[in-house]
Amino acid sequence: MEKTKAETQPHAGRGVFITPEQYTREQAHRMETTRGRLLIASCRAGAYLAEQIVQRYEALAIQAGGPGDVLYLADVDYRFSDSEACVRLDIPVNGDDVFIIQALFDPAMGGNVDQNYMAALIAARTFREQGASHVTAVLPYLAYGRQDKPTRFMREPTTARLMADLSIAAGIDALITWAPHRTQIRGFYGSIPADMLTPLTLFVEVFDRFRGRDDVIVVAPDAGASKAVTHLGRALDLKCAIASKHRPQQEEAVVTEVIGDFAHKRVALVLDDMISSGGTVYALVKRLVEEAGIKEVYLGVSHNLCMASARDRLVELHTDHKLKQVVVTNSVPQTRAFRSLPFLEVRCLSDTLCRTINRIHYNRSVSELFYHE
Ligand code: R5P
Repeated sequence: MEKTKAETQPHAGRGVFITPEQYTREQAHRMETTRGRLLIASCRAGAYLAEQIVQRYEALAIQAGGPGDVLYLADVDYRFSDSEACVRLDIPVNGDDVFIIQALFDPAMGGNVDQNYMAALIAARTFREQGASHVTAVLPYLAYGRQDKPTRFMREPTTARLMADLSIAAGIDALITWAPHRTQIRGFYGSIPADMLTPLTLFVEVFDRFRGRDDVIVVAPDAGASKAVTHLGRALDLKCAIASKHRPQQEEAVVTEVIGDFAHKRVALVLDDMISSGGTVYALVKRLVEEAGIKEVYLGVSHNLCMASARDRLVELHTDHKLKQVVVTNSVPQTRAFRSLPFLEVRCLSDTLCRTINRIHYNRSVSELFYHE
C-alpha cells in the first residue's frame, strides 16, 4: 500500500509497538498479573527491609519454578535542603502493581516519624500520578496507632484516623501492616483493603516448646493485650492471666495486680504489641517474679522502638529478675545496642511480608497464610 505523509512521521525506534502476542510473552517475564507488573519500591528508611523482602521473594519464586527477577526501586525519596521530601522515579511505572516499603520509625536514622510518613505519602502520590495501577503501602510499624481514640480528659485527637485519611488522599489504595496497636484501626481505612497481619502465627511458633505445660502461664500486660494473649493461650493449650496497669505519668507504668491462677506456675510468657520506654514490661516482670513466684519469664513483642530506657530496663530484668528471653521483630529497624543483647532475638518479617505481597499481587487470600483462632 502506498504510504501517506502521516505514516512516515519519525516515530519508529522510540519504543516497541505492542501487539497482543508480544504482550502475552512479556507478562510472565515481568511478573505481570491482572493488577499489573510487580514493582517493589522502598523509601530510604524502609530499604533495610525492602531488600530482604525482594531477596526472599526472588528465592521463593525460583524455588517455585518461576522467573526470579523482581523489579525493585530502592530509595525513591530524597530531601531538599529545607528538609522537604521529594520523590523521583527513574523508570516509567504505567500500569504497575506497586508496593512501597517504609519504616515509619527508624531509630538509627534519627527516628523522625513525620518525615518518614511524609516520604511514604509523597511516594504514593508520585506512583499514582505516573499511572501505577495499584499502590499498596507496606508499613510494618503503623505509627500513630496508639492515638486511636479521643481521650475524654486530655482533649487528644484521633490521629490514627487522620493518618488513614491522608494515606487515602495521597493515593494509597491498600495497606499492609503488622500487628497494629488496635485492629479496629482497620475501620479508619474505609473501603480500601487493609491487611492487619496478626503476630499470632509468629508467637505460636516462638513459644511452641511450652505447649500444654501445666507450669506455664501466658500473661497480658494490660486489657489491650488480653485478646492476643487469650488466642495464644488457646493455641498452645495454656492458662492465661491479665495484669491491671495504670500510668501515673508518661513512661512509667504501675501494675497493681495480676489476675489469674498462679498455683504451680514456674514460667510466664508475656505478649505485648510494643516496647516503648519499657515501663510496662519492667513493672510486670518484677511483679510476676516478686509476687507470683514465677521463676522464668519469656517476652514476645511485635514492635520494639529501641529506646535507651527500655534497653536499661530489659538488661536489669535479665540480670536481676529472671527475664530469660525477649523476641522482637524488625518492624522497626533494630539498633546495634539492642541487636547486641545476648538474650534478645530479632525475627525478620521479610518472609511474612513477601508472601503477603505475593498473595495480593495474584489476587489471592492473605488470611490463608496466618494462624487463626
Ligand atoms: C499499651 O497499650 C501498649 O500495648 C504497650 O504496653 C505500651 O505501649 C508499652 O509502652 P512502654 O514500654 O512505654 O510501657
